Amino acid sequence: MTNKTFYIETYGCQMNFADSEVVNSILMNQGMAPVQRAEEADVIFVNTCSIRENAESRVWNRLKEFRALKKNRGDLTVGVLGCMAERIREQIIDKEKLVDIVVGPDAYRDIPNLLAEVEDGRKAVNVLLSLEETYADISPVRTSGNGVTAFVSIMRGCDNMCSFCVVPFTRGRERSRPVQSILREIDELEQQGYKEVTLLGQNVNSFKYEGTDFTLLMDEVSKRHSEIRFRFSSPHPKDFPEPLLHLIAERPNLCKSIHIPAQSGSSSMLERMKRPYTREQYLELIDKMKSIISGVSLSTDIIAGFCDETEDEHQDTMSLMKFVEFDLAYMFAYSERERTYAHRKYKDNVPDKVKKRRLTEIIQQQMSIQDKNNKKEIGRRHLVLVEGVSKRSDTQLSGRTDTNKMVVFDRETHQKGDYIEVEITDCTAATLIARPVEKSSIASFKREPAYA
Ligand code: SAH
Ligand code: SF4
Ligand code: F3S
Repeated sequence: MTNKTFYIETYGCQMNFADSEVVNSILMNQGMAPVQRAEEADVIFVNTCSIRENAESRVWNRLKEFRALKKNRGDLTVGVLGCMAERIREQIIDKEKLVDIVVGPDAYRDIPNLLAEVEDGRKAVNVLLSLEETYADISPVRTSGNGVTAFVSIMRGCDNMCSFCVVPFTRGRERSRPVQSILREIDELEQQGYKEVTLLGQNVNSFKYEGTDFTLLMDEVSKRHSEIRFRFSSPHPKDFPEPLLHLIAERPNLCKSIHIPAQSGSSSMLERMKRPYTREQYLELIDKMKSIISGVSLSTDIIAGFCDETEDEHQDTMSLMKFVEFDLAYMFAYSERERTYAHRKYKDNVPDKVKKRRLTEIIQQQMSIQDKNNKKEIGRRHLVLVEGVSKRSDTQLSGRTDTNKMVVFDRETHQKGDYIEVEITDCTAATLIARPVEKSSIASFKREPAYA
């Protein structure tokens, strides 16, 4: 494989992006070189997502484009990685003749062997899921990205079996990565100049490795690296640890921002979704978050039009979102996935038109909440970590607040990786506009005591 070039295109969640960085490392260890454009590569991998129908259709379309490239270049190898691998391996290789190699999320170490099989003229597949694989000893190679913010995966798989969700089937059983290997990876990131680390898992609060639970892990990493800020995604509302809230409140480098997927605001819906909490328990948790962490910023995931959803249940979701006033929400129309409990036991019976209308109502309400929340930011001071030059103008920088809001301000003499104290002067629904006050640091920045 030496001397060959490769290109990875990644779809789906942050875990998938983190996995592509593991694959980078495995391929580069074989002497292969990454390139930034598919057209320049000898081997193209698509790291795929199955979470909703439209995620899969985007991948299918892309694979068809690559098939066209293959027509002109007989030696081009195309591979599928990630969550679509298991489910459609036969379809992908035999029926559509689109790809040469299919590798599931736990089989990336086998890629060099699989590529060798392809060189011998065979199609190659490994979609076995594992109970142990965490790629702990592999240092991911971050070939794209800003060099300032990084994702570190701390666990794999998911055992929750929410009735709508395909992830437990595509990624297998939940397992936590050894603590030492997480610490080692973050040490390396610090040496490379990274300033923000997001710890990733499908259900991070169930992290457990020997005696270390998730709160202890956050305690340890944030003590060890006081000028790196830490985030995590995603926790599950069913067992969110209260001690973690106190830790976030006290530790300046634990971001005051929590993504806490609600999925629905209706207790009967949540029961059908097999999310083991009620509307009231969710709201109680939110109350705790707001009272323990002053100025906390909350975000969520919502599904509109899940099986049997009534108008009242939809209104419960609307009212929950209105009550909490999330700063950000990822909102989706329900998309039925094969193998899930909902696919086996329920009917996807909310008409498309109704799903779309409910989703639109949810999105519109959320946009106006965000607009209102952002306006409240005007006049406040924040510590922004600069991620790079603004997309719109190279005389401006962009970065995020501790509360995960995108901020744009004049460049002056500041640069990527700096912590800058800013004062918010204006906003749009998605971005805050600010005036830079001075270069600062996590240790010296004084947060506003409480937001009005
Ligand atoms: N592990 C994360 C979720 C990962 S999937 C968690 O539980 O928080 C990201 C989001 O996709 C989910 O939170 C859910 O809102 C959405 N999602 C999952 N399955 C879906 C489906 N079948 N249809 C529509 N949205 C779905
Ligand atoms: Fe899917 Fe639920 Fe697991 Fe999240 S917690 S990945 S929604 S099964
Ligand atoms: Fe998609 Fe797999 Fe992530 S289905 S959302 S890439 S876990």
